[in-house]
Amino acid sequence: MSDGKVTTVKLKEMKQRGEKITVLTCYDYSTAKLLDQAGIEVLLVGDSLGMVLLGYESTLPVTMEDMIIHTKAVSRGTKNALVVADMPFMSYQISVSESVRNAGRFLQEAGANAVKLEGGREIADTVKAINDAGIPVMGHLGLTPQSINKLGGYRVQGRDEETARVILNNALALQDAGVFAIVLECVPAFLARMVTERVDVPTIGIGAGVGCDGQVLVIHDLLGLYSDLSPKFVKRYASLHQEIVEAVTQYKTDVKTGKFPGPEHCFEVEKG
Ligand code: KIV
Repeated sequence: MSDGKVTTVKLKEMKQRGEKITVLTCYDYSTAKLLDQAGIEVLLVGDSLGMVLLGYESTLPVTMEDMIIHTKAVSRGTKNALVVADMPFMSYQISVSESVRNAGRFLQEAGANAVKLEGGREIADTVKAINDAGIPVMGHLGLTPQSINKLGGYRVQGRDEETARVILNNALALQDAGVFAIVLECVPAFLARMVTERVDVPTIGIGAGVGCDGQVLVIHDLLGLYSDLSPKFVKRYASLHQEIVEAVTQYKTDVKTGKFPGPEHCFEVEKG
């Protein structure tokens, strides 16, 4: 990836060159600085923050205000990555005009570069209106966690021919509506590859195999910080859970035994 700000145009060029796109979720200023420094191309302020930061059982309770606060923090810590903000449940289902207004807040107030919406053909008019307002939209198909009550659980989508066809047609409908990329979550690798070959916009997989144009993971999963759920598609690159418990236990011991603070952590009075 060349230096400089990542744009939706650059992501499309990456797909054309066959260069993989890296995406991670991010919810705060300090982590944004680290991920940006590591050269991750897209930081997704996912509504997964409802589960990994706020302790909800699903993403449904997350509000516009929650998302705006965290998107502002991520934008402040990001120089080069494209910042995409998830539109939370019920912020784009009421009317097209309310959806455009809510999407606009992410760019105008929170400094995001784009928004993400879950759904296919049924939200195509909304996607088009948001895109027409100059707000780039990322789609999200397959397992769409905001529809968890309708889907009946966190399970793989598009396993049979009929449901696979629906996902493929939804991808084409989103492309026609103007999305710049599509997240494919928890779908068979064969289907993800087929969608990737049929659309011109990049596909970003999570639990969708290696045939997508890019990959996304929840940062807490990658770092081993969140253990309430452990999906098969997660690869852990660190065990920060363990390291944090060890560090905090050591701090507790040092304070209890008078080892911390030491002389080097203390201030002197002025001479005389
Ligand atoms: O909310 C989220 O983190 C997401 C990703 C898992 C794609 O939507």
